[in-house]
Amino acid sequence: MPNLSLRVLLLGASGTIGRATAAALIAAGHEVVAVVRPGGVAPAGCTRMEADVTQAGALAAAIGTARFDAVISCLASRTGAPRDAWAIDRRANSLALEAAMAADIPRFVLLSAICVQRPLLEFQRAKLAFEAELQAERITWSIVRPTAFFKSLSGQVARVKAGRPFLVFGDGRLTACKPISDADLGRFLVACLTDPALQNRILPIGGPGPAITPLDQAAMLERLTGRPVRLKRVPVALMDGIIAVLSALGRLSPKLADKANLARIGRYYATQSMLVLNPATGQYDAEATPEYGSETLADHYAALLDGTAADDRGDHALF
Ligand SMILES: NC(=O)c1ccc[n+]([C@@H]2O[C@H](COP(=O)([O-])OP(=O)(O)OC[C@H]3O[C@@H](n4cnc5c(N)ncnc54)[C@H](OP(=O)(O)O)[C@@H]3O)[C@@H](O)[C@H]2O)c1
Repeated sequence: MPNLSLRVLLLGASGTIGRATAAALIAAGHEVVAVVRPGGVAPAGCTRMEADVTQAGALAAAIGTARFDAVISCLASRTGAPRDAWAIDRRANSLALEAAMAADIPRFVLLSAICVQRPLLEFQRAKLAFEAELQAERITWSIVRPTAFFKSLSGQVARVKAGRPFLVFGDGRLTACKPISDADLGRFLVACLTDPALQNRILPIGGPGPAITPLDQAAMLERLTGRPVRLKRVPVALMDGIIAVLSALGRLSPKLADKANLARIGRYYATQSMLVLNPATGQYDAEATPEYGSETLADHYAALLDGTAADDRGDHALF
């Protein structure tokens, strides 16, 4: 048990990182009230609180006169579509902050993303808008900007296991990241509650190094399966062509506009590293990207291959 047991209001508790954060909070001896959508399921060990976080006043009404020591928000648009991103990553978080201020909750920890350093997509602008709002408020805040999650780098494990090629963009070394496991990230978010060095700061965070490229991921799978992994190289220009066609057709069909948005997100991750960006040089910097935790992507791949872990990509599946 920790010296300090806190009562924490957890938003986005049903998502990948929300569930890992709930587990980390409970393991650290904190009390967790998990906010879920009407009809939603709270993670084991949490007290369930139902509220539609998109409706003004709904969370404040659900909190009522209850006392909390902190809010952790792992809320995120499930689609990344512009309207949903502004509704969730920005507005629902703004409403949560408003409710936290009204209830005198002294700390707010936000799960954000390292990709907001170079905001080219609408969901990144929505996240930055809320980050700015949070920093301006009279509350102790932590903005956690993680690098890639394991689930986002696991989409090709099943296809490689089935003997199909591993797809890489360009030469497979256009990007790099220091992947962080759900559990390690959950523990980092929880550490923000009590470690003053992690407060009132923007915190880019990766898992244990070194930084790895898509080519390194293919090599990892080769080692783990004991079989050669064929590479299929996809030119970035092909994605540009697909985006141009879908964007043009998207003016006629909202479905195709959504597909164009997804393709733009895919292109972003195919060409931008999930590492700290050096603003002076415009280059991504692996050395400058902080590391946390102990769980490795190689161990996760091994668990996926032997069936002891499941794929949790959900709507983030891009392959
Ligand atoms: N994937 C990566 O590699 C990566 C890397 C760095 C940062 N990130 C960032 O991490 C976040 C994604 O985290 P995650 O994978 O844990 O997300 P997730 O699994 O998609 O979970 C999203 C959470 O938000 C809730 N939510 C979404 N829309 C809602 C709505 N309309 N009303 C109420 N609740 C709603 C979901 O509730 P329901 O379960 O009810 O839908 C769920 O609890 C994003 O901000 C992303 O940018 C991702």
